Amino acid sequence: MTTETRLRIAMQKSGRLSDDTQALLKKCGLKLNVSDRRLLAHVTNMPIDIMRVRSSDIPGLVMDGVCDLGIVGDNTLEETALERERMGNKSAYIRTTGLNFGGCRLSIAMPEGFNYQGVKSLDGLRFATTYPQLLNRYAREQGINVEFCLLKGSVEVAPRVGLADGICDLVSTGATLEANGLIEVEEIFRSKASLIQTASSLSTPKQQILDTLLPRIQGVMKAKE
Ligand code: PRP
Ligand code: MG
Repeated sequence: MTTETRLRIAMQKSGRLSDDTQALLKKCGLKLNVSDRRLLAHVTNMPIDIMRVRSSDIPGLVMDGVCDLGIVGDNTLEETALERERMGNKSAYIRTTGLNFGGCRLSIAMPEGFNYQGVKSLDGLRFATTYPQLLNRYAREQGINVEFCLLKGSVEVAPRVGLADGICDLVSTGATLEANGLIEVEEIFRSKASLIQTASSLSTPKQQILDTLLPRIQGVMKAKE
């Protein structure tokens, strides 16, 4: 459990959100020494600790109350919530505020030359993905059956090596799809970064820290608009 008085925030250690997250915290006036190997960084001018972890671990750390807050992509958040619900684990959290970075979409893409005639063309096919729960939910909503194979990265390689018929992965610029001969056929989820917090109420000192931090975050977001 977290210590009583220091607010603990989980953020991505490395990856597409880490630079923007670090920049946001800095603009909020938090002074911290982030070095690659230091996974729990103390903020020197506020009672806040920053825990630097894999993005897929952030929602669970917040849902379990190990961290008070987390900055994470909506895609990872939703995937984890669905997975935890399926497993009967705690999946409640509060979305404190949306953040205006980390924009991307989760899409289904097929090899060039695939004869795509709408969603029904995907029925019975196999997809490589890091997001099986989001893909499953989409397939259910569309009334199709899909199989999936789980890849944690380099998902776009799967069709070329015969691992899957298509992929379901994040798209930002589209460059990775293009470089791997894939065409985006359906967007299934839109994502940005969010600040989330535990569903249980914070202790008074922690709530006071959040009450100081949140307006600063919102100020930084507004200045960026
Ligand atoms: C991410 C994502 C896509 C790519 C999308 O992968 O999984 O593959 O970026 O970005 P683009 O549309 O701008 O090309 P990442 O580079 O983080 O590597 P990984 O999947 O191997 O972890
Ligand atoms: Mg990738």
